[in-house]
Amino acid sequence: MDAEEILTGLGEERARAVALVAEAATLDDLREAEVRVLGRKAAVPRIQRSLGDLAPDERREVGRAVNEAFEAIRAALEARRSELEGAREAEFAESDRIDVTLPGRRLPEGSLHVLTQTERLIVDTFTALGYRVLEGPEIETDWYNFEALNIPPDHPARTMQDTLYVEWPGRSDLLLRTQTSPMQIKAMETSEPPIYVVVPGRTYRHDTLDPTHSPVFHQVEGFAVDQGLSLADMKGTLEEWAKAIFGPDQVVRLRPSFFPFVEPGAEVDVSCFSCGGSGCRICGNGWLEIMGAGMVHPKVLENGGIDPERYTGYAWGMGVERIAMLRHDIPDIRLFYEGDVRFLEQFVGGSA
Ligand code: PHE
Repeated sequence: MDAEEILTGLGEERARAVALVAEAATLDDLREAEVRVLGRKAAVPRIQRSLGDLAPDERREVGRAVNEAFEAIRAALEARRSELEGAREAEFAESDRIDVTLPGRRLPEGSLHVLTQTERLIVDTFTALGYRVLEGPEIETDWYNFEALNIPPDHPARTMQDTLYVEWPGRSDLLLRTQTSPMQIKAMETSEPPIYVVVPGRTYRHDTLDPTHSPVFHQVEGFAVDQGLSLADMKGTLEEWAKAIFGPDQVVRLRPSFFPFVEPGAEVDVSCFSCGGSGCRICGNGWLEIMGAGMVHPKVLENGGIDPERYTGYAWGMGVERIAMLRHDIPDIRLFYEGDVRFLEQFVGGSA
């Protein structure tokens, strides 16, 4: 074959190779095509290997054409590869595409326990009136829980509260607080009048769990010491609170009662939010007994380092469970502690 014929054949092979590469439909096809156009048995490499048979000047001319053919084939391979890769990426991007208009997947929603919600609601109504929130320890001393509150060791009032004592090496005066009232003394020890505080917290009594009693329960204490405070101030405050918790038409009534740390002492009743005071299944006689309260006993003020001649005070203590039970018509206190989701989820997202 002379150089002329070789050049013609080379041109044809080059065109065929470029066309083959351009036809590859996938990257796998392209790899096969590459072997067919550049591999050992391929036409252009074969022509390259035959260059040695040519005369030197022909060899130079054909050699240049061979190099050009290789370049053209490689360029075609490169162009097709980047086309196919681009297409594959676009396909991935499409299958990965995020549809931002799809509705989100909802996670099961947690919530504050109904007792926590109720406690916060109670506390918030008092902080709105200017009260400060104070918290104290659940393990107390006999002094703070009883003695400083005018309940001496032999006082019969101690039998009102069956106490859980704490065993501790070398100490016999530790107990689980039976009420939040110990914080009355600590409030006086840590601040000067005017004092207006609420104390939410957990309390303990040696009770057996039944539909209306629990050995662990919650109280919110209220405590105010200022100049010239009277029972009327206390009643007004509690009536404001009752309206916020039970409804705008509520009124409050005080019934004489006894607690050693107040004088006079009272049970506070709120008119029934359900029947409005005529008597129903919830209240019986039109009134709901809500808390104990009274004017702070002069001895208690003295135990807190405050002069009872200059200052007076009032205090109350209410049960969070009882208020939550009334507000939600919950028949059994044990429901609060069992952790049954069917009960708890009724209060999801609520504010008690
Ligand atoms: N601490 C009392 C109780 O637990 C309630 C109370 C508080 C009564 C403050 C009067 C004044 O029963």
